[in-house]
Amino acid sequence: MPAGKEPEFTKLAERALTRREALMSTAAFVIGTATFLPSQAFAAGRHDFTAVAANTLDTVTVPKGFSWHVVASWGDPLWSDGEAFDHESRGTGASQERAFGDNNDGMELFRSGDRNILAVNNEFVNLGVLYGNRSLSRPVGADDILKGKAAHGISVIEIAERDGKWGVVLDSPFNRRITADTPMEITGPARGHALLKTAADPAGTRVLGTFNNCGSGRTPWGTYLTCEENFNGYFSASDPNEQLNPVFKRYGVKHADRGFRWAATDERFDISKHPNEPNRHGYIVEIDPLDPSSSPKKRTALGRFKHENAEVVLADDGRVVVYMGDDERGEFLYKYVSDDRYSAGGETEKLLVSGTLYTAQFDDHGKGKWVELSPAATGMADRAEICIHTRLAASAVKATTMDRPEWVAANPLSPEVYCCLTNNKHRGRRKNKGGDAMPVGGPNPREANNYGQIVRWRPENGDHGALNFTWDLFVVAGNPVVHTDARAGSANMTPHNMFNAPDGLAFDSTGMLWIQTDGKYTDEGDFAGHGHNQMLVGDPVTGEIKRFMVGPKQCEVTGIAWSFDRRTLFVGIQHPGGKGDGHFPGGGNTVPRSSVIAITKDDGGTFS
Ligand code: FEO
Ligand code: CA
Ligand code: CA
Repeated sequence: MPAGKEPEFTKLAERALTRREALMSTAAFVIGTATFLPSQAFAAGRHDFTAVAANTLDTVTVPKGFSWHVVASWGDPLWSDGEAFDHESRGTGASQERAFGDNNDGMELFRSGDRNILAVNNEFVNLGVLYGNRSLSRPVGADDILKGKAAHGISVIEIAERDGKWGVVLDSPFNRRITADTPMEITGPARGHALLKTAADPAGTRVLGTFNNCGSGRTPWGTYLTCEENFNGYFSASDPNEQLNPVFKRYGVKHADRGFRWAATDERFDISKHPNEPNRHGYIVEIDPLDPSSSPKKRTALGRFKHENAEVVLADDGRVVVYMGDDERGEFLYKYVSDDRYSAGGETEKLLVSGTLYTAQFDDHGKGKWVELSPAATGMADRAEICIHTRLAASAVKATTMDRPEWVAANPLSPEVYCCLTNNKHRGRRKNKGGDAMPVGGPNPREANNYGQIVRWRPENGDHGALNFTWDLFVVAGNPVVHTDARAGSANMTPHNMFNAPDGLAFDSTGMLWIQTDGKYTDEGDFAGHGHNQMLVGDPVTGEIKRFMVGPKQCEVTGIAWSFDRRTLFVGIQHPGGKGDGHFPGGGNTVPRSSVIAITKDDGGTFS
């Protein structure tokens, strides 16, 4: 199509850079979307609630007419023989192995008959909170390290609603902890590859543990996808002269870990002794939440990077498409397309085992394409190497360096996909860790981007299997009170809904977009008026965004799921009081605890 005839909505990013032009951008967006999605116009105006004002309270704030309660908190026992959370010791290795993990993140709700099973990621631990009983807030001794490993992974919990309040069903046969020590299978192209072989696993087919599980996903066949993100932070080198190879540098594996000290009790985390162990992490893991005896499966076909979440859709021909972000400055967006097609009730084992990886190239004019990571294009030997050194493969084909891709979400009512680009203070100033340039432009339009934006793309002919797409920016976050330049954000960023660092992202059944933030919560300077991290609802048709919830002190809001009757919204409150002086949810002088909360409407009605 000649440039002059491109739809207005594709001419976006540059236009969002002044208040006046941003207004034009949003107007263009509405026209473009209405043209593209005529059937969705009815969705505008749903979610009739009064927007919540930004605040800095140490509690959860929801709109008038809604209420919230805690479903599960870090350290809550999942079995009746477990110990209640001890605010003095903050638990032991043994108690933590029988309890809900820490720092809950992505989650998905599953159903078995009339029972509700919630699979929840426990991404990491805050040393100052988990070990706040120690003088240096660091693990002291083997049991502290075990406590830390057991606080990671996944908690699969049956939950039930009693007297209007959801809680954990103790001793449910579905309850399960998957931790940094749980045995699991390695599947896909990298299975058995030389780079995955270790002393403990000379075949390169079995691995212990999954950790730093960030966002989530679910498959049409009812399994849970958990995404390994900052796996690098758990490895260390006992040899101070250890030479770090370029791949370790690209993935952030260093001589020192991030204070977890796992190598002190488990030498596979010592890269001087077991240099291949890091190659066995950084994948997406598939779990059957309804079969507690099942072995989790690392799906190497989906690539190895700092996985954020996994948004699964179907191409028009039935192939499985998984959209994925790699959350680091200047890293890339990916999609996986299965070789085989999905059919309900059919064989599913191969669908995340055999397929092709693509990475995204965006141009500056609203168009983009998915570039296949093939051996020919990347110069790599085979699919296995591409699946292990995925970042290097994507650099080789000159993928677009992005402002930290976080969650990806596909609109259930329309073939369009959104991704939070949370921020990138190095945009326009430095290169990424692989030496790729990070120029200002395209979907990353601001230098030293402190606020973030949400990009969206529409696959050609509405088919997720297509290799071409058009794109625009749904919102450019900012502060229109403090700034009048590009930092003010797009026109749909107002003094009443402003936020920074969009991260969690999910569509509800009505086609509304829920946005969760993991940003600066100082409420000062560039962030004055933003308050704490929060959750907002965006209308893809009008571009309107309303704040629905504000979180407690120092938390990140991440993880979202709906009850099957749509009367309850489950939301994750991660690391409240993460800097040490918050007390959510217990108040008083209690230890702050990451929690899943339930939000309901006071009139018992459905929403979303
Ligand atoms: Fe775990 Fe990129 O957030
Ligand atoms: Ca995140
Ligand atoms: Ca984040």
